[in-house]
Amino acid sequence: MNSSAESPSEAIRRQYMSLKAEIERHNRLYYVEATPEISDFEYDALMRELIQLEEQYPVLRTVDSPSQRVGGAPLEGFETVLHRAPMLSIDNTYNEQELREFDERVRKGLGGEMPAYVVELKMDGVAISLRYEEGVLVRAATRGDGLRGDDVTNNVRVIRAIPLRLEKGAPGALEVRGEVYMRNEDLERLNQRREEEGEEPFRNPRNTTAGTLKLLDPKVVAQRGLRFFAYDLVSGDEVILVSHRQTLENLRKWGLPVNPHFEYCTTIDTVMDACARWNARRHELGYEIDGMVIKVDSAVQRTRLGSTSKSPRWVIAYKFPAEIARTRLVGIKVQVGKSGALTPVAEMAPVKLAGTIVKRATLHNFEELSKKDLRVGDLVEVQKAGEIIPQVLRYIPEERPQDALPCPIPVACPVCQGEVRKDPDGVFIRCLNVGCPAQVKERLEHFASRRAMDIEGLGPAVITQLVDRGLVEGPADLYRLDAGTVAMLDRMAEKSASNLVAAVTQSKARPLSRVLFGLGIRHVGSHTAELLAGRYGSMEALMKAPVEELQGIYEIGPVVAASIRDFFDTPQNRELVEQFRALGLSMTEAQSAGGDGAGPMQGKTFVVTGTLVKYSRDEIHDRIKQLGGKAASSVSKKTDYVVAGESAGSKLDKARQLGVPVITEEEFEQLAGGGV
Ligand code: IVH
Repeated sequence: MNSSAESPSEAIRRQYMSLKAEIERHNRLYYVEATPEISDFEYDALMRELIQLEEQYPVLRTVDSPSQRVGGAPLEGFETVLHRAPMLSIDNTYNEQELREFDERVRKGLGGEMPAYVVELKMDGVAISLRYEEGVLVRAATRGDGLRGDDVTNNVRVIRAIPLRLEKGAPGALEVRGEVYMRNEDLERLNQRREEEGEEPFRNPRNTTAGTLKLLDPKVVAQRGLRFFAYDLVSGDEVILVSHRQTLENLRKWGLPVNPHFEYCTTIDTVMDACARWNARRHELGYEIDGMVIKVDSAVQRTRLGSTSKSPRWVIAYKFPAEIARTRLVGIKVQVGKSGALTPVAEMAPVKLAGTIVKRATLHNFEELSKKDLRVGDLVEVQKAGEIIPQVLRYIPEERPQDALPCPIPVACPVCQGEVRKDPDGVFIRCLNVGCPAQVKERLEHFASRRAMDIEGLGPAVITQLVDRGLVEGPADLYRLDAGTVAMLDRMAEKSASNLVAAVTQSKARPLSRVLFGLGIRHVGSHTAELLAGRYGSMEALMKAPVEELQGIYEIGPVVAASIRDFFDTPQNRELVEQFRALGLSMTEAQSAGGDGAGPMQGKTFVVTGTLVKYSRDEIHDRIKQLGGKAASSVSKKTDYVVAGESAGSKLDKARQLGVPVITEEEFEQLAGGGV
């Protein structure tokens, strides 16, 4: 495959250049113009094509190639770099009065001349300085102490919103500043994955962005979906800009994303009006802002105003008041998680906060609860400033009722009364009884959940009854239930009982990846489970894998590898797998690269649309993957087949338009060589 000696023909070179230009154009359409023309899937296909060409002809690859955005080798640490011009901070104001005083100072500084302002959103992210030479990104640095920052170039290169090469017409050398940030939905997606893998979720986008930029492995950074907006030009060869508006317009022209919500204001009253309007609308943006930044527009006026040692006199931040609501703490419930951790949860009288109704908030652990000294009956303050997850800040001492009750630190499990112990090197108190009904229920819920074994009808209400009546002690018992027993549960008719038993039986055929995820092995989320299943193909092979081998799998690190080994070295877990086998669970998966199970759908991409008769969406996707194929969500030229069910709509139209073969469910089964 690798033929580094081969040099590309002129035609290949041209093909490569045009592919590269096309990818750059789509990046720009997406991040700068906000008018994308293709789906993520189609973008990925172009990218794969580019990478293939580069692998074949390494001479083609340059530092500004879009392929460099997947991340290079991990670093040992970050170098410190001296900023060419210090990254000053800006003064803050917190109310109208202080904003008026700023305007007065500016007018006085200008000898009575009237300034005009540009009002921008104050992005709640991390400031970054970018240096371009000959139009190519050569360095990115964090603010640090303002004079020196960390060289984070390798991490910044993987942020797709940041151009690796500027558009034609950009100055030869350029230093630009702006904010790296994360959209709320991207943080939610990341947290979902972390929770699945048994890791603590991140609290807010700003801290996550800061932490991500300091990661040593750019490949991990690339997966986090960081974004960028430019808001300042420090220096540029041969550029003389007369106003900030013009600067923003040029930054955009040169290919840098600029936040579109800036406003030009000629009086301080309109500035204040813009601040108030954005304070009210901040939750519509999809990313966090913590205020507004007000900047004098004219370059000449800026020079005349100058700077103090700390900050320029032509700019000020107006910080939004933190969003805090007061409500009554009506209870503190102790939850027992699937690995036994006891978590105190605040239950509050419902209150509106930052666009949603809040009535529960995790108090994380008992150390935090003791520090806050919260008692049932307290009036408390809840905050969501920059936090997606609500947080109880404090109680109001003057409002504490005399009979307010503290929540005692548990000396036994609140559910099974069993022994508890604090993690030796952590903050969690855990119930040590693996047979604790609360833990058993949590584990069963996870096992039956949609992304694991997907057992329809087996929700929390049924699980609670099964466990409380002593009918089920672990997942293997589910496969021993008969319809007669299930029918005796509350709110269970004969029909629903036999449906449930059928759903349980059907789940025996689920692929290995789902069983692995369902087992709730620490650090093994659905993604890791798929990697393992694809690599080993069967539970048997995986159980034998030495820890060094597991660690050698791409994306699996030492902690995850150790946790997997540990799980399978525990006799009870081996026993559980043995029972699964005896009960007829298949626990196999088509092997991907490295395996010998090239299925009939190897390398083919499928898009499923409309309602199918025999399969649920998840089932057919699993089947495609099992047979070596790929399931995608949108139709493009790269799609090999579209499987169309009842009332298929736009995807079917698109397939016809592009001439992609459309097949029925029956034809799919023929391809697959039989049913599920
Ligand atoms: S201008 C010399 N504009 O706020 C002026 N800063 O508290 C440089 N920030 O460190 C800053 N959005 O990280 C500017 N539209 C915006 C901003 C912004 C967010 C951050 C920036 C700065 C901090 C100051």
